[in-house]
Amino acid sequence: MGSNKQHNYGHTFPDLILWIIYTHFVSKVPSYSKGDELRRILLKYLLYKMDKGATISSGCKIYYPQGISLGKNVIVAERILLDGKGIIDIDADSMIGFESILITSTYNSTRKDVLIRKQGKSKAPIRIGKNVWVGTRVTILPGVEIGDGAIIGANSVVIKDVTPNTVVGGVPARYIKDR
Ligand SMILES: CC(C)(COP(=O)(O)OP(=O)(O)OC[C@H]1O[C@@H](n2cnc3c(N)ncnc32)[C@H](O)[C@@H]1OP(=O)(O)O)[C@@H](O)C(=O)NCCC(=O)NCCS
Repeated sequence: MGSNKQHNYGHTFPDLILWIIYTHFVSKVPSYSKGDELRRILLKYLLYKMDKGATISSGCKIYYPQGISLGKNVIVAERILLDGKGIIDIDADSMIGFESILITSTYNSTRKDVLIRKQGKSKAPIRIGKNVWVGTRVTILPGVEIGDGAIIGANSVVIKDVTPNTVVGGVPARYIKDR
């Protein structure tokens, strides 16, 4: 379990049991009734890293938890999807808004003579710096790096790296202004 953590999620039997307990029970406990504390206890074993004060709110879906690192005081709001298959690394004091999606794997689609579903998938890490604010319902695609202090507007789709201390927004997310 916790002592043998590695980024390549190993599906050990104890990890699988904990994941089922998280997914079907603990993730559903509301934040206002000690849910965050309960999740912190369990997710410290399941995630690659969960630093002091990091919070995952209720209703979040977590795939490949061993690929996910949360720095100090990171806040993951409610009903967010975190796909750790290709590694998600969120640095200290960053906040991810309600119902956002962080996805780290995607279908390959370059060949036209083969069905897309048969071309396999590729993965790439999402890295979010310190003190980043991701608004509500943002989608972040594989391989994106968001610099320290950046702000991502609500409902954006982030397809490329975001410069530190800038505000971006839209579909796809584009530079709006410096902070
Ligand atoms: C991005 C954001 C922080 C910008 O706020 P702001 O600094 O007050 O900026 P403004 O409202 O003055 O908008 C500046 C420009 O950005 C655009 N913009 C603002 N939010 C945008 C968004 N989400 N997507 C695309 N463009 C956006 C505005 O249209 C405006 O463009 P214009 O100059 O061409 O008219 C804010 O709009 C936002 O999305 N906040 C997230 C709120 C949220 O999700 N809260 C819940 C989670 S905690």
